[in-house]
Amino acid sequence: MLVEASAPGKVILYGEHSVVYRGPAVVMAIDRRAKVYARKRKDNKIFIDADNLGFSGYFEDDVYHAVSGNAWRGRNLAALNVSAKKTMEFIGVKGGVDLKVRSMIPIAVGLGSSAAICVATVSAVERLHEGGLKNEEISNVAFEGETIIHGKPSGVDNNVSTFGGVMSYEKDVGFKHHKLVKEIPFIIGNSRKKRSTKRMVENVAALKERNPGVVDNFIDAMGNIAHNGLDALLKADLGTMGDLMDLNHGLLSGIGVSTMKLEILCHTARKNGALGAKLTGAGGGGCMIALSDEQHMSDIERAIRRRKSDAYRVSLTEHGVTSRWVEDDVIADS
Ligand code: MEV
Repeated sequence: MLVEASAPGKVILYGEHSVVYRGPAVVMAIDRRAKVYARKRKDNKIFIDADNLGFSGYFEDDVYHAVSGNAWRGRNLAALNVSAKKTMEFIGVKGGVDLKVRSMIPIAVGLGSSAAICVATVSAVERLHEGGLKNEEISNVAFEGETIIHGKPSGVDNNVSTFGGVMSYEKDVGFKHHKLVKEIPFIIGNSRKKRSTKRMVENVAALKERNPGVVDNFIDAMGNIAHNGLDALLKADLGTMGDLMDLNHGLLSGIGVSTMKLEILCHTARKNGALGAKLTGAGGGGCMIALSDEQHMSDIERAIRRRKSDAYRVSLTEHGVTSRWVEDDVIADS
């Protein structure tokens, strides 16, 4: 028997980057998930097979040994090593573990793939040892793994991946879970350019440092947008939501985290009927999201694909992290 844990990716509807300073951000768990399978080992190695992401290797005393794929990917796998080890430390056990990662969330494009994989790893390893961790504890331990990749993450990604649903997060207020009156699907446009969240957050910090008082105004404005965006989302007021997405994107462009391709994708979506469009996540590449009525959905998707980008619809999932024991032959490809 082995354990299968599964956790969702996310889109940030409003407030990325500003949430690093105060927020709020409005985040939604999406129906694309990462699965992690775990089995105990007789030695102390943390063996990670992430072959469908293009790399595999193991950690022995925190030193990475690549088995397949690029050795530099070891930096990202270190997040899983830390997640697994911190989980065992939390429970008070020692040992090695085989981890198999199967993710449907594209990596390094702003959809919360690394957080989902860390959350699923913590959940799988804790279940393996029947550690009885609560969701809040799973999220907190996964945050330590996330920190390896993202430097100083705000914590929105690991929280929404653990709890699912729609959440807002503001530094002075904390996390709040929200119920939607109506399902609102979004179109994701993936520019296919991978980027590092850590670097984008550092770039914004450097811009803020060079321009004290100016970038703060952008951060405050994005906070106001996220407050109003949450209100509009809870009332399913699509018109206002769209306006606020466009405004949020303009400010993100202003702080230098957009790219030519993301600009083109946002304009393309709007020209084809989107009510609003913005980049989502850290920017610098990665994904944008568009809000649309049912009538224009297919046109927008087609137009995005014509721009040599991937387009898919995503919906809210209320299902956060889950884990269960499965037979050895259950490892799926998804
Ligand atoms: C999170 O996906 C994107 C940023 O807001 C960083 C963070 O919240 O940690 C840019």
